[in-house]
Amino acid sequence: MRLYITGGTGLVGSNIIRLARQRSDIEIIAAQYGPEPEWEVDYQLDPLDMADTAAVRASIQRYKPDVVIHCAAMLDHVYMQYHRAEAWQATVNGNLAFAQSCADVGARYVFVSSDWVFDGQEPIVDEDSPPCPVLLYGFMKAVCERDIMGVAGLRYGIGRLAGIYGINYSNPSLLRKANDLGFDLGNYVIDQLSRGLIAEIWTGPKVNDVAHPTLASDGAEMLLRLAQHDENGIFHCWGNEAVSRLQFAHHFATVFEIDRRLIAPAPTDPLVLDRYRHIRIPFRIVTSNEKTCEALARRPYGLLESLRDFRGQWEAFHAARG
Ligand SMILES: NC(=O)c1ccc[n+]([C@@H]2O[C@H](COP(=O)([O-])OP(=O)(O)OC[C@H]3O[C@@H](n4cnc5c(N)ncnc54)[C@H](OP(=O)(O)O)[C@@H]3O)[C@@H](O)[C@H]2O)c1
Repeated sequence: MRLYITGGTGLVGSNIIRLARQRSDIEIIAAQYGPEPEWEVDYQLDPLDMADTAAVRASIQRYKPDVVIHCAAMLDHVYMQYHRAEAWQATVNGNLAFAQSCADVGARYVFVSSDWVFDGQEPIVDEDSPPCPVLLYGFMKAVCERDIMGVAGLRYGIGRLAGIYGINYSNPSLLRKANDLGFDLGNYVIDQLSRGLIAEIWTGPKVNDVAHPTLASDGAEMLLRLAQHDENGIFHCWGNEAVSRLQFAHHFATVFEIDRRLIAPAPTDPLVLDRYRHIRIPFRIVTSNEKTCEALARRPYGLLESLRDFRGQWEAFHAARG
């Protein structure tokens, strides 16, 4: 299978490439945007800005892949709020160029979307629930999803992700260690706790307090399954349990055997609140992914199981780096 992937220097994309490299039946072509990967590259790299739709079309025509996984995204919500045309061009127009190009060359298209197409106001949502985004990012993801469904002859899977945490293997220097409004606080929590420092968990306002945290390697594995699946539709590629950010941090302490008294609930940092003053954040997104697990032949993957896997990855990663 010839796999073309965007966002390969990112948290999710690097995990997809890492898994695909272990498979002798997958040839990898990775679109490259910003910094070069820090790991050794034994696959094809192709410079590409997804905002350049002519370049997107030319690149897909050049490689004629069997599958495209479009993982790249702008994720700075504050920047996007004030640069809407730029965000729209890269996200919405870029996606449409990929989708149409895939239809042209007969490739299956896997678009990576988000649970933030929902507002978090319903008790539970599933793959068929109507989206109701509250911020530009979620709105653009929902538009991309609809655009994909409208491309004639396209074979596609829309893989929504949620609460991704884990290791960016391609560019370890980009490992996020900052506190966060969502669930990307795993590296922050471990970094603080392992140095005997307090890890503050913001409890609000403006946090995504409940979601389905997902280990990046697990989300990547589901997206690879989706790439090789033949059904069109929306798939919820995330962990099976919804927890609050505080519960999540406590589970981290348990699995890493660190004193959980170092975890301190705290109001959201006023500076962060000020930066996000014009942006709404979904508060609580609880979902079902039963249909997806069945379609992709996936067994439920519990939170503690994924955290134990993360501990293994974390220790191996740091041991390898000395
Ligand atoms: N992280 C989460 O919790 C989460 C939750 C739900 C959905 N998702 C979705 O999952 C996907 C991957 O997210 P992630 O966490 O892995 O993000 P990430 O680590 O920030 O990676 C984003 C990637 O997009 C690339 N990119 C940015 N602008 C680009 C452009 N104009 N042209 C080409 N590439 C560009 C970046 O390239 P450079 O490194 O070169 O800048 C990077 O490789 C995204 O679609 C995101 O919306 C993530």
